[in-house]
Amino acid sequence: MAKKRNITLPGTTDRRIDTLLTLLAENATIVVSGAKIAEEIGVSRQAVWRWIQTLRDLGVRVKGHPRTGYHIEKVPDVLMPQLLSHRLYGTPFARRIFHFFKVESTNTVAMQLGEQGESHGAMVLAEEQTAGRGRAGRSWTSEKSAGITCSILLRPPIAPVYAPLLTLLVGLAARDAAAEEVDSVPDIRWPNDVLIKGRKFCGILTEMHAEPDRVLFAVAGIGMNVNQTKMPLELEEIATSLRIETGKVHSRLELLIRLLRHLDRYYNQFLEEGSAPILRRFSEVSSFFQGKRVQITARGETFTGVTAGLEPSGVLRVARDDGRGVELVLSGDVEEAV
Ligand code: BTN
Repeated sequence: MAKKRNITLPGTTDRRIDTLLTLLAENATIVVSGAKIAEEIGVSRQAVWRWIQTLRDLGVRVKGHPRTGYHIEKVPDVLMPQLLSHRLYGTPFARRIFHFFKVESTNTVAMQLGEQGESHGAMVLAEEQTAGRGRAGRSWTSEKSAGITCSILLRPPIAPVYAPLLTLLVGLAARDAAAEEVDSVPDIRWPNDVLIKGRKFCGILTEMHAEPDRVLFAVAGIGMNVNQTKMPLELEEIATSLRIETGKVHSRLELLIRLLRHLDRYYNQFLEEGSAPILRRFSEVSSFFQGKRVQITARGETFTGVTAGLEPSGVLRVARDDGRGVELVLSGDVEEAV
């Protein structure tokens, strides 16, 4: 399909808000003149105050200084495309970033972009999802602006049988990004739940369009709990956030940038060297790789066994307790068994 580079999406954050916020954030220590703002965002000098007001309505604290201009009081942790793209220069994620304050599901949008021919590396971000989706038809809910809610469009030149590796390498990237911010070492529960002390703070939903012998495109949707101060009661035992674990507020912007840089590295390594380095890294950081007693629920069946490494395609090997040999688990729910 021909690539369309100028796809615009209804509902994305206005480019002028993005430019204004980036301008004020990057000049946070000074007062920026109304004239400069007017010129940068492409509006009249009279209209500047209206755009400042729009920003304030979004919760951004901007102080007006009579005659001199405006000054941002606190740089908000909003995942603005221009702030991100400056920092992601040299990666495929810098070029096409679609930001929404509210959207149904970033994965749904990214899948549509994929169908429309949007290019590799395009990214969809949302402060809030109204119909976030999780694996196995579950829903994914996350408090507004508290976590990372992001979907990345990938066009890997691989056969669908290797698609599970995409999921693994996104999980590795998320794990490595978080590891730099927490004292305890994060774990990965195959295929891609990222855990701290056994509780999940990040999940990944990979969806794709493929022909029998090639992936047309894949979308990796990442939901990371970052600054939530508590989890819904029904999830308290199994889910957590970085803030709950560390007692500190974390910058979503910095975390996402780190995650995407790690992803760029793992993705290139995968394309250049194949699955071996990804599997090796997974074996280093996931306690589920080998020798873990697990309960697997897949294809309507539940069984227990012990993990026995991964196939080159990223599929999990489990030696069944019932003596029926080693089962290859393509997808399913994995839980630690007691
Ligand atoms: C899971 O662990 O079940 C996967 C959760 C994936 C959630 C993310 S949030 C961003 C993207 N958009 C969605 O609708 N889902 C994924």
